[in-house]
Amino acid sequence: MKALKIVIIMMLILGFAASVAFAAGNAANGKALFEGKSLSSSGMSCTMCHRGSLKPELHKFKTYEEAVNYMITTNLHGKALNPKGKRMADLVAYLKSLNAPKRRVITGC
Ligand code: HEC
Repeated sequence: MKALKIVIIMMLILGFAASVAFAAGNAANGKALFEGKSLSSSGMSCTMCHRGSLKPELHKFKTYEEAVNYMITTNLHGKALNPKGKRMADLVAYLKSLNAPKRRVITGC
């Protein structure tokens, strides 16, 4: 009985560790998704519109997950990703790793 309890506790700990690793996302895998065509049924990739390494900032949507699924289903004619899945976590990690665009401030007029 004791051994069973230990096994159950170990499984819970491992499951928790895996879900934390999952939630963090892998930016390198996200970059591959962003540049590749695996999310698309139209041969488009995110980079075709979002060139360079500028971060697409959120204006319309509240979360990257919502924005990403909107982009996939409209612009890429692809299937929405599971918002809590690994590919979404990877894509969001990549987007967050990008640099925000610099604003041009016009002064002196
Ligand atoms: C056909 C061109 C096109 C493609 C392909 C595209 N985007 Fe976009 N994306 C845009 C444009 C234009 C905007 C800004 C205007 C808007 O909100 O519609 C935008 C906005 C965004 C935003 C910000 C949304 C907000 O809240 O305002 C994110 C994040 C984003 N794109 C991510 C992606 C990702 C990830 C992909 C690939 C899965 C992708 N985009 C593919 C054109 C594109």
